[in-house]
Amino acid sequence: MPLVDLKNIYVNFGKEKILDNISFNIDYQKIITLIGPNGAGKSTLARAILGLIKISSGTILKKKNLRISYIPQKICFNPNFPITVEQFMHLNINKHNKNIIHMLKQVHSEHLLKQSVHSLSCGELQKILLARVLLTVPHLLVLDEPDHGLDMNGQILLYQLINKIHRILSCSIFMISHNLHIVMAKTHEVICLNRSILCRGTPKMISDHPSFIKIFGNYYKQQYALYCHNHNDKNSLI
Ligand SMILES: Nc1ncnc2c1ncn2[C@@H]1O[C@H](COP(=O)(O)OP(=O)(O)O)[C@@H](O)[C@H]1O
Ligand SMILES: [Mg+2]
Repeated sequence: MPLVDLKNIYVNFGKEKILDNISFNIDYQKIITLIGPNGAGKSTLARAILGLIKISSGTILKKKNLRISYIPQKICFNPNFPITVEQFMHLNINKHNKNIIHMLKQVHSEHLLKQSVHSLSCGELQKILLARVLLTVPHLLVLDEPDHGLDMNGQILLYQLINKIHRILSCSIFMISHNLHIVMAKTHEVICLNRSILCRGTPKMISDHPSFIKIFGNYYKQQYALYCHNHNDKNSLI
């Protein structure tokens, strides 16, 4: 059985159909990237997989004892509640400080240990969140636009870290991203969503698909041509 098996998922908010007959699997160690325009239902789909919202119909079967880590699109810390990176790393996680420092090193952030989480840049916060993922050792990592607010360099570094986590944990990744040109080299499957699944397949197949081109024009196709590379290529971005 796959890690997650979605069959004929519908989600309505009031009278509005947000997800329309969604079916797919998340298999072992696979990286799936979900793309689609704003309001397409991408975050809703991620939250449905996590069990954070009630689906209107359909079934979501998960492997027994499946451990999922989730990094949402937005994280708001209470400004009145002072908390350091070290304290944040310990929240709900029973690990020794030396494990925490080791994981922070994995994401090149050990120097942030005593810093307030309120003072972190977007890129630093994402790295801290990824260090927490390493501590929780999930089978499945769900990332909702992890590159939000990062510049090009920050995005490339972040995706390098995500790939490193994929290697270290051998986990599956279900990721929402607009940056197909950066993530596609390592993505096994792309799902293009606009309330329903418009098309799905390998990045190369997707970038030629008429439904995809209708929504995204030739933007990704050109980017794909730029970034497509041999995985042994020394100039490879990720
Ligand atoms: N809890 C909710 N109640 C009502 N409408 C919602 C709720 N969450 C999301 N929506 C609506 O569902 C649609 C899809 O939202 P979302 O899944 O966040 O899209 P995306 O992540 O693709 O931008 C949007 O029109 C949004 O306003
Ligand atoms: Mg969203």
